[in-house]
Amino acid sequence: MCGIVGYIGNQDAKEILLKGLEKLEYRGYDSAGIAVQNDNGVTVFKEKGRIADLREHVDTDVLATTGIGHTRWATHGVPSKVNAHPHQSTSSRFTIVHNGVIENYSMIKREELSDVSFVSETDTEVIVQLIEKRVNEGNSVEASFRLALKSLKGSYAIALLDNQNEEVIYVAKNKSPLLVGLGESFNVVASDAMAMLQVTDQFVELMDKEIVIVTKENVTIKTLEGEVIERAPYTAELDASDIEKGTYPHYMLKEIDEQPLVTRKIIQAYQDINGDLTIDSDIVRTVNDADRIYIVACGTSYHAGLVGKQFIETMAKKPVEVHVASEFSYNMPLLSEKPLFIFISQSGETADSRAVLVQVKEMGHKAITITNVPGSTLSREADYTLLLHAGPEIAVASTKAYTAQLAVLAILANVTAKATGKDVNFDLVQELGIVANAMEVLCDAKEEMEELARNYLATTRNCFFIGRGIDFYVGLEGALKLKEISYIQAEGFAGGELKHGTIALIEDGTPVIALATQESVNLSIRGNVKEVAARGANPCIISMKGLEEEEDAFVLPEVHSLLTPLISVIALQLISYYAALHRDCDVDKPRNLAKSVTVE
Ligand code: F6R
Repeated sequence: MCGIVGYIGNQDAKEILLKGLEKLEYRGYDSAGIAVQNDNGVTVFKEKGRIADLREHVDTDVLATTGIGHTRWATHGVPSKVNAHPHQSTSSRFTIVHNGVIENYSMIKREELSDVSFVSETDTEVIVQLIEKRVNEGNSVEASFRLALKSLKGSYAIALLDNQNEEVIYVAKNKSPLLVGLGESFNVVASDAMAMLQVTDQFVELMDKEIVIVTKENVTIKTLEGEVIERAPYTAELDASDIEKGTYPHYMLKEIDEQPLVTRKIIQAYQDINGDLTIDSDIVRTVNDADRIYIVACGTSYHAGLVGKQFIETMAKKPVEVHVASEFSYNMPLLSEKPLFIFISQSGETADSRAVLVQVKEMGHKAITITNVPGSTLSREADYTLLLHAGPEIAVASTKAYTAQLAVLAILANVTAKATGKDVNFDLVQELGIVANAMEVLCDAKEEMEELARNYLATTRNCFFIGRGIDFYVGLEGALKLKEISYIQAEGFAGGELKHGTIALIEDGTPVIALATQESVNLSIRGNVKEVAARGANPCIISMKGLEEEEDAFVLPEVHSLLTPLISVIALQLISYYAALHRDCDVDKPRNLAKSVTVE
């Protein structure tokens, strides 16, 4: 989390930095700041709140062609103006922005900087003070930067200004993403290429423990030992229009509506010239060589993993375990003899997942990353990558990435099953095509979904989602969506589990959203609905065509029974969206959250 930008060139830096930060706001939005540098030195503007709040406080008369900026998701210290980045050293000579967490910051404070008085509660201030200390000890700025970095434990993406040298931005990264963008007589720095597409599509990837000296004409990458590294740039294949809202009121709604298109794109991306589904043969062999698959992910991606387990076990008949990444490292299950790890991550940057990837790679195991972001950390560090082709997902609440993850997992299951002659008795290309059409029906049912949100969720404090089998997993995702954007306390439960405790929470009028898309458990889930209704609940049944009953609130178009999560979730996404709107919540940037969770 947190987003960083930097610009050095001939144009006024302020607007480029502010526009860049607006594109990075999904990474954190509790405070923001920029520092710009001209002949008179460095001027810092920062504010608590959104980029829009910062913009109002930036003095348009200050002209400068060098600058850095930051949008924050608080880790150390409350969201406040004083804790907002940039931070400065005591003499104000050095100004820094930082994304990540410095694990040994209190030790450095105690052992190296006991005579320094700190202004903020952040770990970041330690870095800038340490650099100043090294300079005061007689080292060059570059050497001081390298020395300071060598003392840090943890994750960082850093951009640093020296008010005695307007010609350079010093940059470094470890575990947190950072790119340098190249232009004609200017260069830029950004946590995500999206932030600087306004000025360039040429980027250079940075690796951990490298430093970069960025001037307007040159970008010099070095190791922490000072050895120069050559690296060719790549073209960011992002369409600037992909990251605009267009006529939509919110990114989330736009991204919900993109799901039919994304599903069709995925079918195409994984088809060979004969129209058959295909996946790199090394990946297929690796999956089939494993005796057990361990899916590791967080949040929505974890929920996709649960459905993926059903796909792989049903089609490829391979045992799968699904684990929450943040628990895995210290709570590792006994591994099978030939395990294969699949990391699912929309952003490809999630620190919890990455920590597990590093750990299992050290143990010598193979890993596949399923991600939306080519070149992301998890993609680079795994043995193989399967891309989601969903286009940038900007709303904090994940929608199209979830259905894209399901589609890719279904394809993986299908192709690996066929490679070992397993009988998959349906045509997945055709079935995914039917899913894409059914998704369109859902996207056209916004009025009905808004009405359901109004009828069931307008005033409630809490809401339960129930389902059995694959519907239970979708219920978990529906509950996460609802709670994260509407702040309604929402939980997903296996229908049969309610009577073992949770049913005690049912009161008069408690909304219970029940999914009934599976013929094999249709009667049982309806039985669970009766149990909660008998205790005063207000049940909202969403069923599948062919299984519907008169009392149902909405009937989904029919798709293959294994693929129902790809469409039932859209109903839950839309209900959550409208519930949040009715409560005047900030749908795209819910409180306390950020997209791309790069702290453990
Ligand atoms: C919820 C949501 C999060 C993410 C989670 C993992 O809507 O978006 O739960 O799914 O933070 O992120 P990725 O998939 O980027 O690893």
